[in-house]
This record gives sequence, C-alpha cells and structure tokens, in this order.
Amino acid sequence: MKGITVTERTLSIIKPDATKRNLTGQINAILEEGGLRIVAQKRIQLTLAQAMEFYSVHRERPFFGELCEFMTSGPVLVQVLEGEKAISRNREIMGATNPADADAGTIRNRFALSLTENSVHGSDAGDTAAVEIGFFFAGIELVG
Ligand code: CMP
Repeated sequence: MKGITVTERTLSIIKPDATKRNLTGQINAILEEGGLRIVAQKRIQLTLAQAMEFYSVHRERPFFGELCEFMTSGPVLVQVLEGEKAISRNREIMGATNPADADAGTIRNRFALSLTENSVHGSDAGDTAAVEIGFFFAGIELVG
C-alpha cells in the first residue's frame, strides 16, 4: 500500500564457500549498502544433523546429500537481516539460486562458484523466515 512501509526480518546464511574465501566482510557491505540491517549474526559450524534438519524441505531432492555435505564443509555465518520488504529485497541482492542465471552485480553473480556452492542462502517467504530465524536464534539475541 502506498505510503506504508513494511519492515520484515529474514534469515541469511553466508555459506562455506564464501567463509573459506574470506568474503564475509564484502558480502555484509553489499547487504548493508542494499538497505538491509544486520540485527543478529554468528559464525557457527553446522553438524550434519543440523544441516539435514534446516534443509528438510529438500530431503527428497537429488541434491540433498551434496547440499548437506557442503553446508557442513566449513563455518557458516548465520544472520538476521531487517529492512523494508527484507525478504524480497535480500533475494534481489543475492540473485538467482543458480549463479549462471544471476543478474550482474548480485552476490551470487559476483561470488558463487556453482549451484551448490552459491555463497548465500535467504528465506523465501514470511512463514519460512520466521521458522528459519527461530532455528538459529533466540528472541533475546535479536537486538535490532
Ligand atoms: P539455497 O537458497 O540455500 O536453498 C537450497 C539450496 O540447494 C540452494 O540454495 C542451492 O545451493 C542448492 N541446490 C543444489 N542443487 C540445486 C537444484 N538443482 N535446485 C535448487 N537448489 C539446488
């Protein structure tokens, strides 16, 4: 609606291919310059069980094993981003899932190595954002 701002929160993950290449600062700068505020973040090493639970919606897909193995291959930076229409804004800033299809200047266009090693994850809708934020963060960790 005209004149009404919709502030949202979304879950972002900077994936192992990016943490390994020391890209977290550059990616955070792109997110911030794109109008998103990092209201929580932590660097963690996922276990295989955690990766399988987080991506359980994809458990029947042929890439599930490779995806979970990759997500446990090094540390990840999990973060909560806040801003106007943060869910769709973050998806614009990330670019298409497959870096071959990602628009110039997007994070995946600039940094992703492949469909699996695609540098970042972002929630795809409001209901999944709430579940994904709750998976990694307690309310007390979201300081605004
Ligand atoms: P992400 O946004 O984290 O959500 C699921 C991930 O699975 C996706 O990014 C990709 O990294 C990975 N993936 C690997 N193969 C595929 C595929 N064929 N289609 C969609 N996602 C894939």
